[in-house]
Amino acid sequence: MKHLLATHALRYVKGGMVIGLGSGTTAREFIKALAALRHLDLTLVATSADSEVVAYEVGLGDRLRPMWAVDKIDLAVDGADEVTRGKLMLKGRGGALLREKVVDYAAEKFVVLVERHKVVDFIPARNPVPVEVLPWAWRHVARQIEKKFGGSTALRTGEGKLGPVVTDNGNYIVDWRPEGPIDERVEDELKQIPGVLETGIFSKRKDAVVLVADEKGTVEE
Ligand code: 5RP
Repeated sequence: MKHLLATHALRYVKGGMVIGLGSGTTAREFIKALAALRHLDLTLVATSADSEVVAYEVGLGDRLRPMWAVDKIDLAVDGADEVTRGKLMLKGRGGALLREKVVDYAAEKFVVLVERHKVVDFIPARNPVPVEVLPWAWRHVARQIEKKFGGSTALRTGEGKLGPVVTDNGNYIVDWRPEGPIDERVEDELKQIPGVLETGIFSKRKDAVVLVADEKGTVEE
């Protein structure tokens, strides 16, 4: 399904574009598919070290630029963990949310690739809300989140490794489980807590094109 979504997303790619590469397993498929359009004049901005590596592996490494070196993002293609029909999205399970938000919010066109089971009635449906925080303050920030919004928080720790997960930006992630569904105001309200650097709530791209794939091999918007 991820491969199918990636192939569909290629139709938004045109020569001369600056393209934001999302992160995660679906975004990886898109980067691999993009290699077929290597003949086009493309500039790429990766949202994680992982996506950067994939781009190198498929022969697109010479197209990569840092965000500061481009004037615009024409198209961003990314995955998501949960998306409502009203296009309120939850991202960041892979820990790349901060750079993803910079790129995805800057993009002229934002294409989101998800499998059907990720379409939900409200967020968070299954996943916690990831919050990237200043490491030095993580515990204080976690307590502030609980105090202001309720629910519970946990510092994200690495699978099979000791200690916290460190993001590409050198920060920690606090996973917040609210008591119930959240609305889009929470994106801005969380960021009012000093020490919160970014959240996995993506509420400001209601104009996104969300491509949804199912097991039958159908993709629809
Ligand atoms: C990474 C992300 C990903 O886009 C999101 O977790 C979806 O990943 P996948 O395509 O592997 O399901 O936000 O931080």
